[in-house]
Amino acid sequence: MDTKSVHFLSLTFSLFFISKAAFTPQDNYLINCGSSTSNVAIDNRNFVRDSSKNGSNYLSKGKSISLTNPNPSSNSSLLQTTARVFTSASSYIFNIKKTGTHFVRLHFSPFTSQNYDLKNANFGVSANGLSLLSDFGANFNVLKEFILMVDKVELEILFTPVNDSSFAFVNGIEVFSAPKDFFIDASGMVLISPSGTQEFKQNISFQIFETVHRINVGGSKLTPFNDTLWRSWVPDEDFLVLKSAAKFARTSDPPNYQPGGATREIAPDNVYMTAQQMNVENGTSNFMFNVTWDFPVRSSTVDVHFVRLHFCDIVSVALNTLYFNVYINGITAYKDLDLSFLTSHRLASPYYIDFVVKSADNSDSIRISIGPSELSNSLRKNAILNGVEIMKIENSVPLPRKSKEKSIWVLVGSVIGGIFALSLAILAVLAMLKCIKREPKPKLKPKPRCIESRGWTPLRVYGVSTQGTLSEATALSSPGANGYYGLKIPFTDIQLATNNFDKDLIIGSGGFGMVYKGVFRDNTKVAVKRGIRGSRQGLPEFQTEITVLSKIRHRHLVSLVGYCEEQSEMILVYEYMDKGTLRSHLYGSVFTPLSWKQRLEICIGAARGIHYLHTGSARGIIHRDIKSTNILLDENYVAKVADFGLSRSGPCLNETHVSTALKGSFGYIDPEYFRRQQLTDKSDVYSFGVVLCEVLCARSAVDPMLDREQVNLAEWAVEWLKKGMIEQIVDPHLRGQIKPSSLKIFGETAEKCLAEYGVDRPTMGDVLWNLENALRIQVNERPQEIHEETIVGSVDLTTPRAILGAPSSSPRVGGDDNDGTSDITTSRVFSQLINRDGR
Ligand SMILES: *[C@@H]1O[C@H](CO)[C@@H](O)[C@H](O)[C@H]1NC(C)=O
Ligand SMILES: *[C@@H]1O[C@H](CO)[C@@H](O)[C@H](O)[C@H]1NC(C)=O
Ligand SMILES: *[C@@H]1O[C@H](CO)[C@@H](O)[C@H](O)[C@H]1NC(C)=O
Ligand SMILES: *[C@@H]1O[C@H](CO)[C@@H](O)[C@H](O)[C@H]1NC(C)=O
Ligand SMILES: *[C@@H]1O[C@H](CO)[C@@H](O)[C@H](O)[C@H]1NC(C)=O
Ligand SMILES: *[C@@H]1O[C@H](CO)[C@@H](O)[C@H](O)[C@H]1NC(C)=O
Ligand SMILES: *[C@@H]1O[C@H](CO)[C@@H](O)[C@H](O)[C@H]1NC(C)=O
Repeated sequence: MDTKSVHFLSLTFSLFFISKAAFTPQDNYLINCGSSTSNVAIDNRNFVRDSSKNGSNYLSKGKSISLTNPNPSSNSSLLQTTARVFTSASSYIFNIKKTGTHFVRLHFSPFTSQNYDLKNANFGVSANGLSLLSDFGANFNVLKEFILMVDKVELEILFTPVNDSSFAFVNGIEVFSAPKDFFIDASGMVLISPSGTQEFKQNISFQIFETVHRINVGGSKLTPFNDTLWRSWVPDEDFLVLKSAAKFARTSDPPNYQPGGATREIAPDNVYMTAQQMNVENGTSNFMFNVTWDFPVRSSTVDVHFVRLHFCDIVSVALNTLYFNVYINGITAYKDLDLSFLTSHRLASPYYIDFVVKSADNSDSIRISIGPSELSNSLRKNAILNGVEIMKIENSVPLPRKSKEKSIWVLVGSVIGGIFALSLAILAVLAMLKCIKREPKPKLKPKPRCIESRGWTPLRVYGVSTQGTLSEATALSSPGANGYYGLKIPFTDIQLATNNFDKDLIIGSGGFGMVYKGVFRDNTKVAVKRGIRGSRQGLPEFQTEITVLSKIRHRHLVSLVGYCEEQSEMILVYEYMDKGTLRSHLYGSVFTPLSWKQRLEICIGAARGIHYLHTGSARGIIHRDIKSTNILLDENYVAKVADFGLSRSGPCLNETHVSTALKGSFGYIDPEYFRRQQLTDKSDVYSFGVVLCEVLCARSAVDPMLDREQVNLAEWAVEWLKKGMIEQIVDPHLRGQIKPSSLKIFGETAEKCLAEYGVDRPTMGDVLWNLENALRIQVNERPQEIHEETIVGSVDLTTPRAILGAPSSSPRVGGDDNDGTSDITTSRVFSQLINRDGR
């Protein structure tokens, strides 16, 4: 066990919680140039003079003189009343204790003295040889802020007059270390250019930034006195294109900073406690409008800007109600932004996202818009923005050529600034909750778009045996004359079934699009998933889904009824599941609590479905997203596993990512998969173990509102299981209902599923066998003595609609062969349970 990494992680974690403590930069030079006072306090900080008799000063070579403003205005700060003037190239040299990103702020306040009118200065400034300003002069008070990497032990700031008859000046200099991780070199940062989006391939921390705008959206002006890094933030109103489109939002509660999100140093509380949102009172009736800001930038043909957007959901009253789109210069920069998801399901939790923006030639502003997403409930459409920072990227090396093809993929898959942040969050959470033993590979890049946690969202089926080549194999096969296996459904039929996609019939939504309830003329009820045109779901993927799904037929798997690809529509039609998700019957809804017997039957059904995926005719399919919202119930409470093979999001399909990128849902992810990124069917077993705990305890897999040791259901439940005190955590609705030996088997099964290492976990066949015994005992039947041997049958692919026609009955106990398959594998008796109880 590598205790060092555990230590490192918990350290990282605890650092996040040192909240209010002020940031103390390791390097911190504050210079009051030209002053003769040894130090003056400005905004709570001490500025020292730049020269002193005893030789301890920062000025090195060159000729300079100090000037004092003979007529200071009553309101000018002490920094503005003195200046240092350079008549030849001269520099300040600062010793750097800690290499890394530094802030460099130059204060210019031109005044007129006897010999010099500082407004006439004309000069260049460079830092360690890199040009910051050239041909520069100031006609009024200016603060220039640069953020740059200092990778040497010295920082030389050189002032160079343009020619012998000119001069340079400066009133104040600040050089201080940026907080750790102020910029994060995450690959996958999005570059937005007039032609679309693509990946920004350079390391962001090695660029030189010049701050252009720093905006406290919806809030008031913030001074260096108010800010953790002594920055100034200005209100946004002057930049709003249509003021009436926006409405202020404010909260008096301090933000909930969380690991993986923004910190106080990224932006102060005040930025996150105010926002602008859609002014729906003044909006068009269907809420279809954007809130737009134009931020002027100097026009130039090579301008590249860094844009950091700050978000904090202070407007929603509940989680998962706010989805919106972000556009930069008219290009979709982030679609269906889901702050609940990004902030691990916490409201009012600060988050930021970084973009790199290449403007069109001669464009003189950057336009940022926020607008409603199609995912949001029509009654609650909204969009928010809390803060904007725009920085010019100086001396940017030539950018990669545009490639339109790739752009969409990058757009969708990128978490931009959040990538690293999110992985940190997961690390931290795991470190705390799961006490992980090895440091995950640093290249780990969870992508939120692939870890969607809502129902009806992407699900992933990947063939293990084929090592991620499943999609290749199937995508190459082309449909026959009647489409795949005769599953083609005319668009007009679907229109008819859904009352032309009646909004009232929407039963779900997800990254792929909307899900409608529909009824065909023969009274077959169906769920119709309609892809958003131009969504990330491309035609090849759509076809792959169909080829894969049409091979999967099982009573306990939600089946594909058909599909439609007419008129550039991409529609998938599934059997309708009357009773919705398993989760909705466990907690957080009005349904009457399920009985223990019903719960066992549902778990057995779901286990059969997963077991079939692992071992059935389609063989070797790993679901990857087993959770209680992906187990659906039909009108007879027959459980069916859903969401396999559908809407795999673009980047997840990318060959290199298939086998490596972390996918799944928070709270259900196999810790071993997380560490080693080797996917096996035991990852599904782990997730199913979490579902078993949900069924037993009637609470969610992750509940951040609970005490720390209870947040993660799997960990919490295993604690109690190990103590042999499982009754303590059973859903109160079940008290007195469960036979102790049934509960014992169930608990042991769940515990085994949640074993740290895949090899220690049972197969789904073993799980199934044990759950069946738990049910037998509960209903007074004799438990199975031996693990029977049966042969896994194959499934008839040619009767796709037959499943629908088949009447559903509640699952029978024992070998249920109605569907032509058996659920029990020969391989392993549940020896773990029998022999290794002590562990
Ligand atoms: C030299 O100057 C610095 C800064 O003005 C001051 O802190 C220090 O005490 C001085 N040392 C002596 C020996 O005067
Ligand atoms: C001082 O006041 C003048 C006039 O009110 C204003 O133009 C100037 O910007 C102010 N200077 C500072 C540093 O606030
Ligand atoms: C030096 O620069 C100043 C300011 O740009 C300009 O007015 C002047 O003509 C220049 N002098 C020479 C000798 O180039
Ligand atoms: C970018 O950063 C990574 C990790 O910090 C480093 O390995 C890589 O060499 C850097 N690339 C460039 C172009 O500086
Ligand atoms: C910011 O600081 C000023 C003092 O410079 C203070 O008057 C003001 O109330 C502070 N604003 C906020 C929002 O904290
Ligand atoms: C609504 O917007 C219009 C402009 O579109 C504006 O003239 C009007 O004053 C706004 N009304 C309110 C109540 O904000
Ligand atoms: C919002 O702006 C984007 C980009 O300009 C545009 O594509 C989109 O249609 C706008 N949305 C609405 C509802 O007007």
